[in-house]
Amino acid sequence: MVITRALIIDDQDSLLNSLRIFFELRGWEVTTASTGREGLKKARTLQPSLVILDLRLPDMDGQEILERLRHEMPATQVIVVTAFQDMDNTIRCIKLGAFDFIHKPIDIDELETALNRFSNVSKAQGAKPPIEAPLHSVSCEDSPYIVGKSQAMKDVFKKIAMVSDSRVTVLIQGESGTGKELVARAIHYQGAYRSHPFMVVDCSILVDTLTESQLFGYEKGAFTGAEMMRKGTLESAGEGTIFFDEIGELPLRLQSKLLRFLHEKGYTRVGGTQPMHSEARIIAATNRNLEQMASEGRMRTDLFYRLQVVTIYMPPLRDRRSDIPLLASSLLEKIGHKLRVPIKSLTNGAMQELESYSWPGNVRQLENTLTKAAVLTKSSVLDKEDIIHANAHIDRSSPEKGGVDKTLAEVEKEHILRVLNAKEGHLGQACRTLGISRPTLRSKLKQYGVNQT
Ligand SMILES: Nc1ncnc2c1ncn2[C@@H]1O[C@H](COP(=O)(O)OP(=O)(O)OP(=O)(O)O)[C@@H](O)[C@H]1O
Ligand SMILES: [Mg+2]
Repeated sequence: MVITRALIIDDQDSLLNSLRIFFELRGWEVTTASTGREGLKKARTLQPSLVILDLRLPDMDGQEILERLRHEMPATQVIVVTAFQDMDNTIRCIKLGAFDFIHKPIDIDELETALNRFSNVSKAQGAKPPIEAPLHSVSCEDSPYIVGKSQAMKDVFKKIAMVSDSRVTVLIQGESGTGKELVARAIHYQGAYRSHPFMVVDCSILVDTLTESQLFGYEKGAFTGAEMMRKGTLESAGEGTIFFDEIGELPLRLQSKLLRFLHEKGYTRVGGTQPMHSEARIIAATNRNLEQMASEGRMRTDLFYRLQVVTIYMPPLRDRRSDIPLLASSLLEKIGHKLRVPIKSLTNGAMQELESYSWPGNVRQLENTLTKAAVLTKSSVLDKEDIIHANAHIDRSSPEKGGVDKTLAEVEKEHILRVLNAKEGHLGQACRTLGISRPTLRSKLKQYGVNQT
């Protein structure tokens, strides 16, 4: 095998040519193929050290080609070319043993980074290309949609692929709004136990006793009002996943109980003595510095170590600005569907504004700003001013900043849109939460310029 021999499989001639030039300039021997079948044939004869594989080919499914390549020639590494919308596909490809992935349209810097990584790994292995056992392939329809093309997000995707089929405990750390819950859901829904429940325990909003009985269940008569036995989350989750959101807020007494569960999978219902058992997988998230909390005695050190068997760090948006254009367009699409408003696009100026802002509230703030701009702007294109205006509004209206300078009508409108957003655009559910009738909601939305079909 020639270490610097690459095979490029893609059905787009122009792309094949550019990639050929890219590789040849860096001293590689290059062969190209424009169909899957031709690619497989050439790979078998040439045994290249690297294959660049477009997943969308006219004659064969790219994943199948990847699977065959990894099976027949494990020393050949494959970098797959995917569309950024295909997060599920990408994770599946990593599980099948793809070395890396790059997005289409191809960004040269991204390709260069992947190639450097390939060279470093090959060198580190004494010029012997790395051999990684292919993992299982899974299909998943319910997986949440995570967007990102920065190196930091690629690393997150890879970690999701690595941990999703196992039952290992995962700790997701990162600032508020960076996508921690989204990642927890992806781990669950990409995994082998995805048909089991995914349950969320928000440690920040429940009072001590309620959390305990919610988590572990209770026996009849355990406390006033416990008129019958109730199953807890650990029992209801079965072999599914329990996501402990804001784990840093879990009271110390419950931390010991959770630790015992993590060690032995055992627990007892509140007011009960019978030992219970659960196979539920635990994923926890926090935006706090748990290590510091542990050193201050607010978090059990042993629980902290037990939780962080695998840690996924979600980088703040300001540290991965290259994700902003993709996030903005996919969020605008999501917002359009959710609120049933026409999907808006962005001027260059608007995009620059988004890319230069610091986003202290991360992706959630970006989503809120775009929602506000999409609703407030009549035109189908959002410009810089629309973004600045919407963002200023969000900044002022964030709970930390009080928002005491608004009229009642403004507060009402914001609240209605927030509820509608939370209910995924479902009018009936929004009406129930708001305590108003459907015609009233409709007329208010009309007043705000939100089209309802
Ligand atoms: N990479 C991403 N691609 C698409 N949407 C994202 C991404 N990251 C975050 N979001 C969206 O941003 C919002 C916040 O994400 P999420 O709730 O997962 O963040 P979080 O880290 O759990 O925040 P918090 O700490 O405030 O609970 C959600 O609406 C989510 O869909
Ligand atoms: Mg969250």
